[in-house]
Amino acid sequence: MPSYVVVGASRGLGYAFLKVLATDPSNVVIGLVRDDAAVQQRLDKDGLSSSVRLFKADVTNIEELKAAYTSIEATVGAVDHLICNAGYKTTATLLRNLAEYPNDLDYLTTELTKSFQVNVIGVINTINVFMPLVQRSSIKKIIALTSAMGDCAFINETGIDGGIPYAVSKGGLNVLVAKYNAAYKGQGVLIMGICAGSVNTAEGQMPSFSESDMDKFREMGGKLQAYSPRFAGPVPPEDGARQLLKVMDASSIENGNGGKCVSYFGSTSRWL
Ligand SMILES: NC(=O)c1ccc[n+]([C@@H]2O[C@H](COP(=O)([O-])OP(=O)(O)OC[C@H]3O[C@@H](n4cnc5c(N)ncnc54)[C@H](OP(=O)(O)O)[C@@H]3O)[C@@H](O)[C@H]2O)c1
Repeated sequence: MPSYVVVGASRGLGYAFLKVLATDPSNVVIGLVRDDAAVQQRLDKDGLSSSVRLFKADVTNIEELKAAYTSIEATVGAVDHLICNAGYKTTATLLRNLAEYPNDLDYLTTELTKSFQVNVIGVINTINVFMPLVQRSSIKKIIALTSAMGDCAFINETGIDGGIPYAVSKGGLNVLVAKYNAAYKGQGVLIMGICAGSVNTAEGQMPSFSESDMDKFREMGGKLQAYSPRFAGPVPPEDGARQLLKVMDASSIENGNGGKCVSYFGSTSRWL
């Protein structure tokens, strides 16, 4: 019975991982969420409460992570797959480039700090707390959900200049993944990053945009299309989750994936 712990599983890709994994009754599926009561209601509504266990944890709160660790240890004894999915991003910074912050550096600093706290330090907290349970597994796989937005070659080729806090934090996450691999590869723990590509996780909560913002979105879409003419826009969350699980399944230390960041189709250099 392979076990999966999905961190940041309340909505978007995280919740889609729960749904997809729960379709195989041989999986032990565990979600970590900040608002466990709300997500439990969602699971009940979707008929998933008997196949998914939920525990409460904010990745910036070590005590909550440790409490979740204790409960999960009692439930499964070992964690085969740890999916570090929790992420912080805002559309407010997505469309602003560095030339647009000179009078607003406090805001940039605040957003960089929030992004680092969740996207980098949150992953450190999660991996450090859960590592003993991963080490007890015979599978030992840890993936962090990363983004091409944090890849320098992708930025230089596309010229996408916005999303500074998110991109810089995901770039930091990519380095973190390599450092974890350097520390744990010898113990047989696979640690890697996988970019989700483009997944529609808005869940109907799209904010309204001004006409000039819409122009910027169209410009970004054009850059993505030029980067990859086959890019057809965001995919539904469950399709995205299935694809990411396929990449995780195919990856191993033996295949040379440790410390690497790969796309949702397994490439280390092409992202869409
Ligand atoms: N969607 C894409 O196209 C795409 C592309 C590339 C990479 N990714 C990466 O894939 C992951 C999931 O993306 P998504 O689009 O599904 O994101 P999302 O819809 O914004 O969902 C983010 C998830 O992270 C959780 N979270 C945020 N801060 C947290 C914290 N401090 N502690 C615990 N959980 C926290 C959220 O929980 P709450 O409900 O409690 O806020 C939510 O479950 C992210 O790491 C993202 O960077 C996504």
